[in-house]
Amino acid sequence: MSSLRAVQPRPDLMSEAGLEAVRGDFPTLSRKVRGKPLVYLDNGATSLRPTSVIEAEAHFYRHTNAAVHRGAHALAEEATDAFEKGRSAVARFVSAHSENDVVFTRGATESLNLLSYSLLGATLDARAGGDATVNPRLVLGEGDEIVVTELEHHANLVPWQQLARRTGATLRWLGVTDEGRIDLGTLDRITERTKLVAFTHASNVTGAITEVDRIVEAARAVGAITVLDACQSVPHLPVDLPALGVDAAAFSAHKMLGPTGVGALWARADLLEDLPPFLTGGSMIEIVTMESTTYLPPPARFEAGSQATAQVAAWAAGVEYLEWLGMERSAAHERALTAHLLAGLARIDGIRVLGPTTAEGRVGAVCFVVDGVHPHDASQVLDNEGVAVRVGHHCAQPVHRRLGAQSSVRASIGPYNSRDDVDRLLEVLDGVRPFFGVTSHG
Ligand code: ALA
Repeated sequence: MSSLRAVQPRPDLMSEAGLEAVRGDFPTLSRKVRGKPLVYLDNGATSLRPTSVIEAEAHFYRHTNAAVHRGAHALAEEATDAFEKGRSAVARFVSAHSENDVVFTRGATESLNLLSYSLLGATLDARAGGDATVNPRLVLGEGDEIVVTELEHHANLVPWQQLARRTGATLRWLGVTDEGRIDLGTLDRITERTKLVAFTHASNVTGAITEVDRIVEAARAVGAITVLDACQSVPHLPVDLPALGVDAAAFSAHKMLGPTGVGALWARADLLEDLPPFLTGGSMIEIVTMESTTYLPPPARFEAGSQATAQVAAWAAGVEYLEWLGMERSAAHERALTAHLLAGLARIDGIRVLGPTTAEGRVGAVCFVVDGVHPHDASQVLDNEGVAVRVGHHCAQPVHRRLGAQSSVRASIGPYNSRDDVDRLLEVLDGVRPFFGVTSHG
């Protein structure tokens, strides 16, 4: 399916016919929800999958179905090829210098935990002394600082809180502006004490795109490791991770047309080379005796046990689909829809957007509160009309607190969304406050 796609002309997402053809590739879009056509605006949580991805996963089970990197039979060889082809596709998509810089995980949360636990492991190894040689840049202790930002979703905050707590390091954070961007005026919180800086590329709440170079520059000046949460950027923008200058980045397949249960950690070769494993067991070892074990080089060192082979094979089809759409074109389409959405929200009484109110420097994850109406009530009205949005704190309580909201409604755009989708959301939203009898005067 995906190779057929490669020979088909690139669709024009801005034209009705082009977008219709793309929408036809996503079977979920043809279903009805509560008797109404589905309007899917929950792409920040998870994307829909095109038929090529669904078929690639089914094809693996039907046709290949073997474990990777073990077994000498033909099916095992084919499975290993499919798995490594998936690695090549993901590496190519983020412009990795080498396929070996891509480690498969269960998702971005695990990628960030992998880093956090490996750094804990490095610190414990260094404290234990003995044979293990540990690069001092990986070792944390009292007096060291980890810097995050108030914009992070919990997956890029809690693992660093834990690492600080367990190593004796101190957690600090960059602030957030009223507009919902990382406050670069607080960059002086990155100091000679900072060993690691973890920050988001694009916020899942405010949609703000980070000026990565400014943070990388400050972190590099003090020799700190930089970790990028790329969950909301890689699916929606052209992203060249090495060019961004960060040392590591995390993202998930399921937010970028791929299957659930798989994600990646991309990291520079020198960092991966120095890091001890997170999970240990089969397929990541060189020599095992009853006393000790030596490990394979990356990425195998970080891929213990049986892998999500069918999912990685299908992720390649998702990547090919995005490549076929063209990330520049897809980003432009999503930006136009985001501008349309923001302009429409501004016209509805009592709606406050958490984040930048124009489409510049932001992605299409748009959170808002409806004055006088609880987000859950608002989303129920939307759901009754077949409009799927996310509601709650979106795994990002601190930034909600910072922006004076306990929770919010989030509409988030994907490449297959149309102006009609946005108009339908706006139309239903327009009726939400009157439905609950809320007037502008309370
Ligand atoms: N996956 C979470 C979201 O929906 C964090 O933004």
